[in-house]
Amino acid sequence: RPAPDRRGGLVAAGLPIAVVALLAAAAGPATAGTVGSSGAGDPYFVLAGNGGYNVHHYDLTLGYDPKSRHLDGRAVVTARATQRLTRFDLDLKGLKVARVTVDGVKAAFRRDGQELVITPRTAVRKDKEFRTTVTYAGTPKPVTDPDGSLDGWIPTDDGAFVAGEPQGAMTWFPANNHPKDKASYDFAVTVPDGTTAVANGVLRGKKTSHGRTTFRWRQSEPMAAYLATATVGRFKVEQYTAPGGLKVYNAVDPREASASAPVLKKLPSVLAWESKVFGPYPFHGAGAVVDRAPQAGYALETQARPLYDRAPDLSTLVHESAHQWFGDSVSLTTWKDIWLNEGFATYAEWLYDEQHGGRSAQKAFDALYASAADSDLWAFPPANPGSGARIFDTPVYARGAMALHKLRKAVGDRTFFRILRTWAGDHRDGHGTTAQFIRLSERRSGKDLDKLFHTWIGTKGKPSQP
Ligand code: ARG
Ligand code: ZN
Repeated sequence: RPAPDRRGGLVAAGLPIAVVALLAAAAGPATAGTVGSSGAGDPYFVLAGNGGYNVHHYDLTLGYDPKSRHLDGRAVVTARATQRLTRFDLDLKGLKVARVTVDGVKAAFRRDGQELVITPRTAVRKDKEFRTTVTYAGTPKPVTDPDGSLDGWIPTDDGAFVAGEPQGAMTWFPANNHPKDKASYDFAVTVPDGTTAVANGVLRGKKTSHGRTTFRWRQSEPMAAYLATATVGRFKVEQYTAPGGLKVYNAVDPREASASAPVLKKLPSVLAWESKVFGPYPFHGAGAVVDRAPQAGYALETQARPLYDRAPDLSTLVHESAHQWFGDSVSLTTWKDIWLNEGFATYAEWLYDEQHGGRSAQKAFDALYASAADSDLWAFPPANPGSGARIFDTPVYARGAMALHKLRKAVGDRTFFRILRTWAGDHRDGHGTTAQFIRLSERRSGKDLDKLFHTWIGTKGKPSQP
């Protein structure tokens, strides 16, 4: 139930997509529905993702040499066609593609910006499962996002810090690069001996021969491409089973080890607390990667094993851990809804403080509300950043959290926490939208919450009442 000015934003932003759809329809039955589209329809990142198929599994075999920064890759992408496909795209930026096969048969391909355009020898039938193998190599480079930040394969002095939100997955593997399409992953990453390669999920094995070590990782629950990592470096590794049976694997840059230790020690208790508040931890495997990477300058909730560019403080650990529920297990269908990730993870920090002898969420809310009307905080509505350049700005995080606090005050603690758990439970390993969250909140509380959401996530400017 979008509020008026959010609806305005949607129509304006959605216009190019509608035009594209019209043009495709006008092209007639000969081409429409036969060529997979070059984007997933996201107005903020028009070429991100692709149409015509859903990926079920990525099998990534990588070799990386930190000295030369050379990457060798082979990706086996298993997908199901949602339409007949005479041609389809994967997203891949940079790198050189040597060979593409579809179901074992050599396929024609060309590069067009970030699109790897593949023409199989024979069309893929609708509903058919098919397997695309891409062999590639080169020196991966990160992308520069509209907000100026770097993401993707970010080289470091001893390896690479690999964080893909929102666009960077395509800098190191051919992907359907949009959170709409989640898949399971297998990784086999070979690096020089003494270097560690850390990916998502659980470690399946480690084998050394001829001075090189291969790390095999498996992420069995569905994962959005931006949450994939294969971070490489010289790390101190710590492995243990937490109370409750969760397998923890931490890899820490020795230069950050002493600063990280006290916070990482709290990971099991943070996850246990979050499981109590949000419902069962959604993944196999947990842990952290701490890799000093000033070039990145941010942490990312890489699935099952968040990635930190420096020793995290406790709030950051709580934040990235909360994303395992909100963002990773329950994924976005459009980047515009980013407050469902960042507002929730920020509110988790407030709740953690409140329940661990710190500042109350009310105090956090009041402190923010007191900030001047011209503060960045009120610059745009959290549920409508307006462009990909603003998806990580203050309103998304802080005002998103304020909106959840207002919801809590309106429906009461009991209902509020039930809403959070139901959200995480009902959409586990799937997707959620802002409209669905509003509907759930109204259903669970029996209240009309239109005005509340309109004021707190749908309208720019400082609301006249706290
Ligand atoms: N999702 C990350 C967080 O935990 C932020 C990622 C920022 N990414 C970027 N390219 N600036 O808040
Ligand atoms: Zn976050």
